[in-house]
Amino acid sequence: QTKILEIDPLNFQLEKIKEAAEYIKAGKLVVFPTETVYGLGANALDETAVKNIFIAKGRPSDNPLIAHFSDIKDILDFVEIDKNLFEKIKILTPGPITFVLKKKKNIPDIVTAGRNTVAVRIPAHPIARALIKESNTPIAAPSANLSGKPSPTDPQHVIEDLNGRVDIIINGGKVDFGLESTVIDLTEKIPTLLRPGPITPEKLREIFGKIEIPEFIYGKAKVDVARAPGMKYRHYAPDKKTILIEYSENRIEKIHQLAKNYKNPLIIAFKEDEKYFSEIDTLISGSIENYFEIATNLFAFLREADKTNNDVIIIEGVEDKGLGISIMNRLRKAATEIWR
Ligand code: TXA
Ligand code: MG
Repeated sequence: QTKILEIDPLNFQLEKIKEAAEYIKAGKLVVFPTETVYGLGANALDETAVKNIFIAKGRPSDNPLIAHFSDIKDILDFVEIDKNLFEKIKILTPGPITFVLKKKKNIPDIVTAGRNTVAVRIPAHPIARALIKESNTPIAAPSANLSGKPSPTDPQHVIEDLNGRVDIIINGGKVDFGLESTVIDLTEKIPTLLRPGPITPEKLREIFGKIEIPEFIYGKAKVDVARAPGMKYRHYAPDKKTILIEYSENRIEKIHQLAKNYKNPLIIAFKEDEKYFSEIDTLISGSIENYFEIATNLFAFLREADKTNNDVIIIEGVEDKGLGISIMNRLRKAATEIWR
């Protein structure tokens, strides 16, 4: 039986947070909102509790979890980091970014899938921070979806996927960003982007100087599993056939040509392009001028598109720039077919 706790992120009663924190301390599973997506949390120092995260989500055990902290200083008990680097990551926290660092022994192997590194994040969301603080322990949490499904950006998505599989779901409303945190590996000389997210490469360069962006980020090469264990899995995937149209000037013609091959296609289109598809079913992803809007809606419209009776989903892609890199990274993983 899953308990649903309604908590207003802007005006919450500490009593409710404390109740959820008692569950964390008791080794139970608690779904909580962060500013990126909802997380499926448990006490990171309790091996049995962490094992239950993998079971509830159906997640492969070779894919490590992020350890969440309420205060950046708290990571010092769990990772090896020099002062200079610590000062840099402080600038980006709290926020939608995850740092891969050398771990100390007190982080259980089950959290890191046996690696000598651990991913740490300090979320900015008030409920997430209060929950971690009241639990008095780091919280291990993947995104709160069933493995393979789009990450949950709305409490309704969590209920669809995890009702009956976890102990508490905190309903804190819709999330802010709607894309998972940027993951950056800081264990080698040149910081390497492992997952693009709300913190863009431009911003990372401001803080770290030179960074490496592997080809797999753009879907152009095989994932280096040794470095980015989670990126090999097909992800965010609707059950329906899903075709991604890479951004181009002649995308409208391409889509019309493609749509003819199907009985009942659904186009996920920019606001500005909807008028060209008046004969076809459409969902609006957002404005071509506002990648933030598209990013925020992305996972919700992938879930929505999967529930209609259309026989194929055709999605308009954005340009690989700024936040567009993160959007395209997710869409290329969600797609069964890509038209360039
Ligand atoms: O926004 C987010 O990051 C959300 C919220 C809940 O914090 N969490 C999230 O977790 O997206 P998850 O488990 O769905 O994705 C974590 C990613 C995976 O791709 C995983 O492989 C990678 O981080 N990761 C975790 N530990 C790692 C490590 N030690 N080395 C390399 N990659 C790691
Ligand atoms: Mg995930």
